[in-house]
Amino acid sequence: MTEKNYAGATPFGVKDGTRMQQKSRLQKISSSSRLLPSLAVNAPHAANESEQLLKAGIIAQEAVAYARSFIKSGMPLLEIAEKIEAKIRELGGKPAFPVNLSMNEIAAHATPLYNEKGTASGLLKVDLGVHISGFIADTAFSLDLDDNQENKALIAAAEAALHAACMRVKQGPVKIREIGAAIETAIKEACFQPVQNLSGHSIERYEIHGGATIPNYDNAQEKQLLPGVYAIEPFATNGLGKVRDSKPSTIYSLVKTGTVRDTLARQVLVYIQEEYNTLPFCARWLVKHFGSRAIMALLRLEEAGLLHHYPQLIELGKGKVAQAEHTLFIKEGKVLITTASRQ
Ligand code: CO
Repeated sequence: MTEKNYAGATPFGVKDGTRMQQKSRLQKISSSSRLLPSLAVNAPHAANESEQLLKAGIIAQEAVAYARSFIKSGMPLLEIAEKIEAKIRELGGKPAFPVNLSMNEIAAHATPLYNEKGTASGLLKVDLGVHISGFIADTAFSLDLDDNQENKALIAAAEAALHAACMRVKQGPVKIREIGAAIETAIKEACFQPVQNLSGHSIERYEIHGGATIPNYDNAQEKQLLPGVYAIEPFATNGLGKVRDSKPSTIYSLVKTGTVRDTLARQVLVYIQEEYNTLPFCARWLVKHFGSRAIMALLRLEEAGLLHHYPQLIELGKGKVAQAEHTLFIKEGKVLITTASRQ
């Protein structure tokens, strides 16, 4: 699941000021999330971190293979998302965020509504996450459901970029900008644009966006990539290479705890803390548990400032967008791609 950078108005530059604002907003969210009581109670530091990360990665690989085996043009989006999420649970994991099914010019952060009627078509991005006790694997792939040559070329470009970036990280010490440059070069060689204001990200326990950004272009960031867990996720487009916020996605995450007067909203808040902690969740999941009155409770929690509501992200030039993503685990000089079988 990607992260949007709120870059300035210039199409191919990042204004320092806005980048800083984004950074401090993220820090605020991640530091407040660490104060959530559920984290303190339920998340003692696990000694078997590596084991859990690898297990989450294997479940994610199986969920991808399963998704690739059954998704067809015209299939209800609701059925696709629910089948993938059920498979993740069946394999012993939990979804780290709602399955994102974003089509064509929607780059990211679309998930079916609880009463979704839409069906799959065009260039479909499937972005899924698995967690085991908060240890996360984040992976994505794209499908061409229209048998369209340009869709296929966009998908190939995103995959080539992901491959190039992973290979560069595996070569040894790497600057952040060099990962972005590998992605940018691969996508431009295919005559497409990388989406510059979408990025990969560091991953922490129970935090899908850990605070560090992995750019999809050479952003002049001289810092070295440190050991840790990272999602690398190139987006290739035949549009302008930028996304903007679109309509609300019904995907949320808890950003702080607080009190609300409404009884049901209070119950929903407790459920969110216990079930999802600070990981993203969606209205569809809550309707399943509480019925459709959960929608009103979510509105109350959002009004109280306790939730971040992710907007869908749409390509600025209405270009089509393809995505590929893997999670990398870097420890003691070794680089493991947890969401890929062949290393
Ligand atoms: Co991601």
